[in-house]
Amino acid sequence: MNAGIIGLGKYVPEKVLTNFDLEKMIDTNDEWIRTRTGIEERRIAADHEDTSDLAYEAAKQAIENSGIEASQIGLILVATVTPDQGFPSVACQIQERLGATKASAMDVSAACSGFIYGIATAKQFVESGSYPYVLVVGAEKLTKIVDWEDRNTAVLFGDGACAAVIGQVSEGRGILAFELGADGSGGKHLYLNQEQAISMNGREVFKFAVRQMGESAVSVLGKAGLSKEDVDFLVPHQANIRIMEASRERLELPEEKLSKRIHKYGNTSSASIGIALKDELDEGKIKDDDIVVLVGFGGGLTWGAAVIKW
Ligand code: ACO
Repeated sequence: MNAGIIGLGKYVPEKVLTNFDLEKMIDTNDEWIRTRTGIEERRIAADHEDTSDLAYEAAKQAIENSGIEASQIGLILVATVTPDQGFPSVACQIQERLGATKASAMDVSAACSGFIYGIATAKQFVESGSYPYVLVVGAEKLTKIVDWEDRNTAVLFGDGACAAVIGQVSEGRGILAFELGADGSGGKHLYLNQEQAISMNGREVFKFAVRQMGESAVSVLGKAGLSKEDVDFLVPHQANIRIMEASRERLELPEEKLSKRIHKYGNTSSASIGIALKDELDEGKIKDDDIVVLVGFGGGLTWGAAVIKW
């Protein structure tokens, strides 16, 4: 039995915050942000919108897109570092709203790697026959943990959500291989501080990300019995265009095979890979039979990669 993505959804809030808006708030400028990160604008959730609202919208769309009923879902996994509250989990909150009455539910805390941790976990439950369908969501209202006076981090993040229904797909398709990893000794480089704001050593995270994304992408291809030449599309975590380009170069891929959506959304942590994947599919960039590599890294430190035959 093979598990794969059978439905996808995404949701981003309406409000756009551009680099020019940020120029009026902190000592920064559009040119610095664009050249150092690739970001031009990001979405900001309204005061009344919290992570569970973003998660719900993306999840509803993914379920509709998959053609199943919410009541058929056996497990809901929500990857997030910005839950509405400590508990109940975002997964339980959306379980009720979606009417997924038969689903168990829990949140996954692996920062920006959370969506890949989620789909790798979902694969186990589907392929073992435990649940026919698992809903995986990546949702973040990062702007509530941004220190708007810290220009090192305030320019990087945005809000958004993605969702995928994982179910059975035909032989030879779906999630062919995955790789997950963690290095707790690097936790000090990226964490939520006592003021409940993001603290980051940008240079250390940058070095780690360039190394780890490249290594994971190569390694996961090996696990799937594939090589760099087989890759049709690379969807990396959208954290910084220079980190994304480095992973493309490591796989020796041409420019057009890299998913670049960071300019519109900034870094949406666990939502970024799924949002980018959905945009590529909607625009016809990813087609049936394509080999797609997803790769991410995040606070923890954590990393994850997956190879999917579409
Ligand atoms: N506007 C203008 N100048 C700035 C800004 C800004 N927003 N931020 C920093 N600078 C200045 C710095 O103060 C520094 O000035 P100085 O030389 O006078 O001290 C200068 O720009 C260069 O700073 P660097 O840190 O060397 O800039 P760098 O090229 O490394 O880029 C960045 C910084 C973009 C943060 C980069 O290090 C990076 O992307 N790191 C990875 C971040 C990341 O991906 N984090 C993931 C978090 S995801 C999660 O898990 C929540």
